[in-house]
Amino acid sequence: MSNLWYKNAIFYELNIRSFQDSNGDGIGDFKGLTGKLPYLKDLGVDCIWLLPMYPSPGKDDGYDIMDYCAINPDYGTMDDFVEFITEAHRLNLKVLGELVLNHTSDRHRWFIEAKKSEPNKYRDYYVWSDTPKKYSEARIIFTDTEISNWTWNNECKKYYWHRFFHHQPDLNFDNPLVREEMINIVKFWFDLGLDGFRVDAVPYLFEREGTNCENLPETHDFLKHLRKFIDENYPDKILLAEANQWPEDLLVYFGDGDEFHMAFNFPLMPRMFMAVKQEHHGPIVDIMKRLPDIPSNCQWAIFLRNHDELTLEMCTDEERDYMFKEYAKDKQMKINVGIRRRLAPLLENSYRKMELLNTILFTLPGTPVIYYGDEIGMGDNIYLGDRNGVRTPMHWDQNKNAGFSNCPPSRLHAPIIADPEYNYNNINVESQKNNPNSILNFMKDLISVRKKYKIFGYADLKFIYPENKKILAYFREFEDKIILCVFNLSGKSQPVEMDLSKYKDKTPIEILGDTEFPKIGELPYFLTLSPYGYFLFYLK
Ligand code: GLC
Ligand code: CA
Repeated sequence: MSNLWYKNAIFYELNIRSFQDSNGDGIGDFKGLTGKLPYLKDLGVDCIWLLPMYPSPGKDDGYDIMDYCAINPDYGTMDDFVEFITEAHRLNLKVLGELVLNHTSDRHRWFIEAKKSEPNKYRDYYVWSDTPKKYSEARIIFTDTEISNWTWNNECKKYYWHRFFHHQPDLNFDNPLVREEMINIVKFWFDLGLDGFRVDAVPYLFEREGTNCENLPETHDFLKHLRKFIDENYPDKILLAEANQWPEDLLVYFGDGDEFHMAFNFPLMPRMFMAVKQEHHGPIVDIMKRLPDIPSNCQWAIFLRNHDELTLEMCTDEERDYMFKEYAKDKQMKINVGIRRRLAPLLENSYRKMELLNTILFTLPGTPVIYYGDEIGMGDNIYLGDRNGVRTPMHWDQNKNAGFSNCPPSRLHAPIIADPEYNYNNINVESQKNNPNSILNFMKDLISVRKKYKIFGYADLKFIYPENKKILAYFREFEDKIILCVFNLSGKSQPVEMDLSKYKDKTPIEILGDTEFPKIGELPYFLTLSPYGYFLFYLK
């Protein structure tokens, strides 16, 4: 079996544009990022996931690609990329890129060619129709901006298909040439050193009449073919699926361990926020029970936030209403079917809640993914349009532009967060580094715990069902290794009773916690957790 490094890694998602600017043009770049690798190494992460780095008109922050095999000049040159990846590898950090299979920019050469008169090799790279009525069962994803998945093109006198923005025509995966182009793109970047891809928008590759055009068997066939190519040629490299689907449809993306190595756990994500708001373990327990075991060479990628809105697509209507009501009180916070806010503002800037939710995240099955800036509790800017409010420059220190760039502030690609509560003067790496009680140092501790107790990467999850539903509790068990994890989802102290008689011969070793560590003594076992308190025990 190939190396399973991704099962026990910590991932860190970042936007090159917003990480560090090296040449004073107000836009982050590879040179800047390379200079910050020691920070990421020190934080303890193992794998960096880069948002799109390719030439792009930037109408979807780079997911609208003009050229798959080049570097966006704003971010530097191919040499800068190679220098970056070489240095990352020297520090033992892996790097994932973005593979956007489903669509290109309408300014990609293929689409420009496709619109020219026929016969024309590129016309068939995209999906065309004489009527916008085709595939009418496919939902619209960007509900705030698009009214149809078809857009009329006057040059071709036809409609073209797009699941996202109208400036992002979908590629036609029925065309073998398109499939081959994609394999060649993967080869190109793997030969240059990328360690894998986060694969964007995978459910939508093929379209078939009479279906919702998601998760089709043809799509899975292509993905398995792609995986086979990787296994045969690049056995240590991985594919991570962005498939925002219900558990039953999501599981299929692992195949029999022969499709994706990893997939984001979209259904879990909003339910962690629900659980802490409702002060009830139900949402987490219920969804995890709906997610049966995955093949042993596969892994979930688990996350609290990312560069998109906190999506509520995999929620019932009732759950969605609840989430909007509780977490998006201002309508400016909503976008599409989700909420455009960062972790800290979602949690009302409560360090205790940030610690609690991160500890739950780091102890559930899967590989945790941290979104840049959330490790210091950065704020957001809900007035920036689209999802840009959660993509603002990283706060490094108290200097001009938070240390991100030495350009005049008005030249920054997006303003620094300067509102009082989340002002970069207080919330920045430098000031948190030396403060033992900072969220940054907490995250460092949590990362080191996760790395020390490797069983978190593969142990079974066994829920305990305390009578007090405000307590979430579970064991992670692998052979004779057992970790007990207990969390108080409520803002008040809570008593809990758990029957641990089975473990009475074990010695509990404290791993992490803010609650006074209890001793396993008389049974049944009572203890009290502080507000939003938690503890992790290793039972030896
Ligand atoms: C994915 C990306 C998102 C982008 C969309 C269309 O969902 O995460 O940022 O807008 O694909 O490319
Ligand atoms: Ca720059």
